[in-house]
Amino acid sequence: MGNVYVMDHPLIQHKVSYIRRKELGSKDFRAMVGEIAMLMCYEATRDLKLQEVEIETPICKTIGKELAGKKLAVVPILRAGLGMVEGMLTMIPAAKVGHIGLYRDPDTLEPVEYYCKLPADCDEREVFVVDPMLATGGSSVEAIRMLKDKGVKNIRFMCIIAAPEGVERMKKEHPDVDIYIGALDEHLNSHGYIVPGLGDAGDRIFGTK
Ligand code: PRP
Ligand code: URA
Repeated sequence: MGNVYVMDHPLIQHKVSYIRRKELGSKDFRAMVGEIAMLMCYEATRDLKLQEVEIETPICKTIGKELAGKKLAVVPILRAGLGMVEGMLTMIPAAKVGHIGLYRDPDTLEPVEYYCKLPADCDEREVFVVDPMLATGGSSVEAIRMLKDKGVKNIRFMCIIAAPEGVERMKKEHPDVDIYIGALDEHLNSHGYIVPGLGDAGDRIFGTK
């Protein structure tokens, strides 16, 4: 059964408040999204399985611990998820990276797929899907469905800001997926934007409008 974790680390809370500010420019916004992703990754990998390994230090042989099984994969939902990739890879540099392209139709708010390229062995990996925003949940629910269609069994979802509506939809559609959230906000407005949120994450990361 999947769990929902709202990060309470002070550095994450501090940085999330920073990127909410409307006056923050793209350069600083992008840098801080990367830092938040890095900190969230550290917290969200606490329970990864370890295995014992025999190693030899300059002094003697000993038993150490290393990550068990195949390495991880990170899958950003384009575009905004790209902003979290570098931070994730700082923590887990051996991870492979897949990409899922979805945009939200502004009228229906339903996700529209335009790209999907995943590591060939992604079904054997633990996959971290990343996207700064979980609003209606349409995009993340669809991205995770696409991964499950490819046989991926171990999936975690990480977002910086979530609306309760999106969390509920994710729990209903993908009850097996753990969800890691930087901040859980109040609600969605009539245009499907998170309140108080931070506006359009993709536009703020890439300086578009
Ligand atoms: C944003 C965001 C999520 C999605 C969340 O992407 O990055 O992918 O909206 O909304 P939802 O939970 O209601 O689906 P957007 O569609 O604006 O595309 P972009 O990343 O290319 O800007
Ligand atoms: N996508 C965003 O980028 N921001 C929101 O508030 C909702 C969806």
